[in-house]
Amino acid sequence: MHQRRFALLLLGCALASAPRPAGASAQGAAGADVRARGAPAGARLVEPPVLANVSARPGVVEVHLVAAPATLPYGPGQGTRVLAFNGSVPGPTLEAREGDRVVVHFKNELDEPTTIHWHGLHIPFESDGSPFHPVQPGERHDYVFTIPEGTAGTYWYHPHPHHRTTHQVSHGLFGALIVRADDDPLAGIPEKLLVLADNRFRADGSIDVPEKGSMQARFDEENGREGDVLFVNSQVLPAIDIRPGEAQRWRIVNASAARVYRLGLTGATMLHVGSDGGLFERPVEVDELVVSNSERVEVIVRGTGAPGTSAALQALPYDRYIPQTRPADWDRPRDLVTLRYGGQPLATPVALPPTLRPVAPLDPDVATATRVAVLTQGMINNRKMDMRRVDVSAPLGATEVWQIENLVGMDHPFHLHGFRFQVIDRNGEPVPFRSWKDTVNVPKHETVRIIVRYDDFPGKWMFHCHILNHEDMGMMGVLEVR
Ligand code: C2O
Ligand code: CU
Ligand code: CU
Repeated sequence: MHQRRFALLLLGCALASAPRPAGASAQGAAGADVRARGAPAGARLVEPPVLANVSARPGVVEVHLVAAPATLPYGPGQGTRVLAFNGSVPGPTLEAREGDRVVVHFKNELDEPTTIHWHGLHIPFESDGSPFHPVQPGERHDYVFTIPEGTAGTYWYHPHPHHRTTHQVSHGLFGALIVRADDDPLAGIPEKLLVLADNRFRADGSIDVPEKGSMQARFDEENGREGDVLFVNSQVLPAIDIRPGEAQRWRIVNASAARVYRLGLTGATMLHVGSDGGLFERPVEVDELVVSNSERVEVIVRGTGAPGTSAALQALPYDRYIPQTRPADWDRPRDLVTLRYGGQPLATPVALPPTLRPVAPLDPDVATATRVAVLTQGMINNRKMDMRRVDVSAPLGATEVWQIENLVGMDHPFHLHGFRFQVIDRNGEPVPFRSWKDTVNVPKHETVRIIVRYDDFPGKWMFHCHILNHEDMGMMGVLEVR
């Protein structure tokens, strides 16, 4: 298959020049976080290949995706056995425009069932790639959907088989999905895609996913699987160059199984312009941002540093943990990307628009129900996922409020399939501005209220904690819309 070879080739060169973590070693049961050693900084950030559109018809994006085992220069050592989409980790980026018809010809070459879930997209139930629609080993499946207007943004795709999501995603099955708008207010600003996904390796370089029932497996079930190697597009500490006067739009995806990133740029602020479901109404200047699992952010980074100097995009300490599983060095900032200031100043510095796009409010006054979701360790409303059960049923078109209460001392990022929502308040405090979300972090002992309208698509939609181990253990429920 043509385009698969292409992806492999691209990845080959990308990774050959990328610094690799040398001597990354397994994380002990106590959570000791061993840092990748000797990874030289400086290789340029390489973005995943873009999926080739094999359709010539306007408004149609037709692509091929294969999930299969591969051996790639991913971890320490010669080659790491991974599971990959089209031989690439992250998988190739699916790019489409609002209104496009997307056809994905998928083949499962794994030796177990899988799915592809289009995280955050508002598309029919049959195309959602949830555990209700497994694709068996050797089978093909076509995912067909239309990208709704008004949903330009940064999304991602990943497997969602019952109980096996952590395993498959941790082995490399995840990729970004970018939806563009014709009237993008930030069009013309150079873009970078940063897919964050930590990982953990054994001494022999293989991906360390513990045996079921082992101490480490139990630890991961509690804490969520974290790794000591922090990858950005499968590179360790890549560099991005920026010129004086330049502005760049960074699309950042948290594809980690459990790690929450509190992102900061040393010596500079960022303009936060968007989250899961695309742009805000106006940019917000921030020092830092918390990005929980499966959330995305869009930021504008500006070339304001003195030429010849550099800054770091850092993962700052963020305490999402219960004390028993908090890693020993959780409070140590980690560099993710080096931002190098330099080059010729731009002739005309980029002018950023003061407003971006309207985000129409969902009105709590028209909500016809409030759903309470109580999060405890591994359960929602004291239940574990049962595929045969419907936990919430609601009429098509209804607007509802969800009150998500986290009763335990650990954060749980809450995700709803199929329908984007808006956060109303946190612990009763209204959030400062509106945005479209599909995942909201619910910090320890906090209550978050969201509002959602079940537009267009009946079906059975999952809601769950997006710490992948928690999801696999059944911290998930089913919303039936009919
Ligand atoms: Cu990103 Cu139910 O998943
Ligand atoms: Cu999802
Ligand atoms: Cu959780």
